[in-house]
Amino acid sequence: MRISKRIWGALGTVAVVVVAGCGGGGGEGLDGNGRPLGEGDDPSGPMTASFRSIQSHVFTPACTACHAGAAAPRGLRLDAGNSYVMLVGVNSGGVPALKRVAPGDAANSYLIHKLEGHQAVGARMPLGGPFLDAQTVNLIRQWINNGAQP
Ligand code: HEC
Repeated sequence: MRISKRIWGALGTVAVVVVAGCGGGGGEGLDGNGRPLGEGDDPSGPMTASFRSIQSHVFTPACTACHAGAAAPRGLRLDAGNSYVMLVGVNSGGVPALKRVAPGDAANSYLIHKLEGHQAVGARMPLGGPFLDAQTVNLIRQWINNGAQP
């Protein structure tokens, strides 16, 4: 009885730390399948392969808990005002030979490596999960292969 109480106490502490970590971390804005909440363009319709749709369905809800402000990891800010210029045509910090987003070339875009979990450096994004489903990553890949237009 005493032991099980201790275990529950310890679990409670762990849960609080996880929830408090980085303002909700990667889980924010995603449902149980790792699919962004709000199936819309504003975001009230289905997600499309446009930059604005990716911003409102993925970057803002799933990434800005960490990737915003002066302390953004690797200096990568993914809030609506900064994400495009910090991604497209910019060398990654982890693997400088790779662009974060190489227009027309999703296979060699570090962003895709990080979202799919085959990056050479660091962890899969969003850090700690839940990770994006394949359909969502495919829309981002399509946006890149279509030239990564703003
Ligand atoms: C819980 C915090 C957290 C969340 C949420 C998060 N990241 Fe990250 N991200 C990091 C950290 C820390 C690093 C640096 C270490 C590494 O590369 O793994 C990083 C690195 C990256 C890099 C590599 C940048 C470079 O130049 O090397 C990319 C790309 C990236 N994140 C994209 C994303 C995207 C897209 C999302 C949302 C879908 C996201 N991250 C969500 C913490 C986070």
